[in-house]
Amino acid sequence: MYSDADAAALYDILNPWGPSDDFYLSHVMASTSVLDVGCGTGMLLHRARERGHTGRLCGIDPDDASLDRARTRDDITWVEGRAEDMEWERKFELTIMASNAFQVFVTNDQLHSALSAIRRALTPGGKFVFGTRNPLVRAWEGWTPEHATDVVDHRGRALRVSHYVESVNGDVVTFTETTATREGETLRVDAGSLRFLDTENLDEFLHEAGLEVEVRYGDWSRAPFTATSDNIVTVARPRPVTVV
Ligand SMILES: C[S@@+](CC[C@H](N)C(=O)[O-])C[C@H]1O[C@@H](n2cnc3c(N)ncnc32)[C@H](O)[C@@H]1O
Repeated sequence: MYSDADAAALYDILNPWGPSDDFYLSHVMASTSVLDVGCGTGMLLHRARERGHTGRLCGIDPDDASLDRARTRDDITWVEGRAEDMEWERKFELTIMASNAFQVFVTNDQLHSALSAIRRALTPGGKFVFGTRNPLVRAWEGWTPEHATDVVDHRGRALRVSHYVESVNGDVVTFTETTATREGETLRVDAGSLRFLDTENLDEFLHEAGLEVEVRYGDWSRAPFTATSDNIVTVARPRPVTVV
């Protein structure tokens, strides 16, 4: 048995600060009001405050155990909720979705609702910055038990975390993540589905939600996107409203 609180702590150990976080942080530090959608344990906004961000910082996530870790800082607003249900209007100069949180919206309705809510939350001239894995690179093919990660958790337990892809249905990959002891005793199994949108479909969803691409990169050092890029990194902005 491995609790939700343990799983949230383990997430931070398995996902230490990296180049993508530096990329997002540079955008956060340049904006006076920021909404982190799918903020998880809040590491990014914590770091922004530590670096001296004095503006409005807000994180939203449906996962209570992750938010409990985020709430260790009370100078940031933490909201338990889903992107699809957000009701902010013209409140944030920047909205981000870090660590492929974008991929959790697997149905067209979920994705459209989330993007529309993000569009509404942006101030005029605001930006939506996010990344999603490039489907052409087929990252899920490496999500096999042979590629398990050995890790020591926050309580000093030696664990093995592995993935197994259950199905690939169109652009939706359904998988399990198993947390086990090194001896092979299963402590926890989490099931998840992620959507791997290509750039064409991605841009259509953005367009339908009233957004457009300002600039697109293929990695966190801002190299141009190509078919072999691991990530589709997008800076989007509200689309001008056409009056007819
Ligand atoms: C891969 S984690 C990324 C967490 C964090 N952004 C980071 O950089 O570590 C994806 C996050 O999306 C959250 N999430 C799942 N469904 C969501 C939804 N409908 N709306 C907003 N966030 C959601 C999960 O709870 C999880 O914290």
